[in-house]
Amino acid sequence: MADGVERISSQDLSKLMNVTASQIRQDFNNFGGFGQQGYGYNVEYLYNEIGKILGLDQKHNFIIIGAGNLGRALGNYMNFERRGFLFKGMFDMNPDLIGMDVRGVTVMHTDELEKFIRENEIDIAVLTIPKTGAVAVAEKLVQYGIKAIWNFAHVDLKVPAGIQVENVHLSDSLMKLSYNLNRYNEEQNQ
Ligand code: NAI
Repeated sequence: MADGVERISSQDLSKLMNVTASQIRQDFNNFGGFGQQGYGYNVEYLYNEIGKILGLDQKHNFIIIGAGNLGRALGNYMNFERRGFLFKGMFDMNPDLIGMDVRGVTVMHTDELEKFIRENEIDIAVLTIPKTGAVAVAEKLVQYGIKAIWNFAHVDLKVPAGIQVENVHLSDSLMKLSYNLNRYNEEQNQ
């Protein structure tokens, strides 16, 4: 869309995405299909419809728990707003960090969590704290009304059914890179 392309075939999408054209058509068909036979896909329509499926047509307020290196890096990343994720608050238990400014958001003490979540319609919490405290913090977040947790702590959280948790392990991506690197090197040496 940014390149001014108005219409695209599953073949052309396949070349861009390294996925077969039939896989793309099959995936789209799971959501009812978005194209006409022989016409391809209208790019803007596709973009908007996929956005709706992902819930990106709605706004989500999020907070970050843990104002360390990772929490601050995420808080400073502007592009979440462009996708409708609004950075509303940041919390830590270290008194030295309270009052610090991260892109216009003032770090607060975790004692303020309940009040803040209830008063600001926060639905997503990002957990960037060590695994030791993460399970207990997640339990409290759910109690205070959080509906979804983006979990960077290296621990499985115990949450009730209906609460969405997405675990992130950056090392997964690094291992994938390592696998591809090794595979490429092996192919070159054959
Ligand atoms: P950091 O030490 O810079 O920051 C952690 C912050 O959490 C500190 O400010 C600390 O005061 C705060 N904190 C600790 N317990 C807390 C609690 N119960 N409530 C509120 N705040 C609390 O560490 P960094 O580098 O920001 O990493 C944070 C965590 O994320 C680490 O445990 C690390 O293992 C994990 N991590 C996960 C990655 C992933 O791919 N999933 C990648 C990088 C880090």
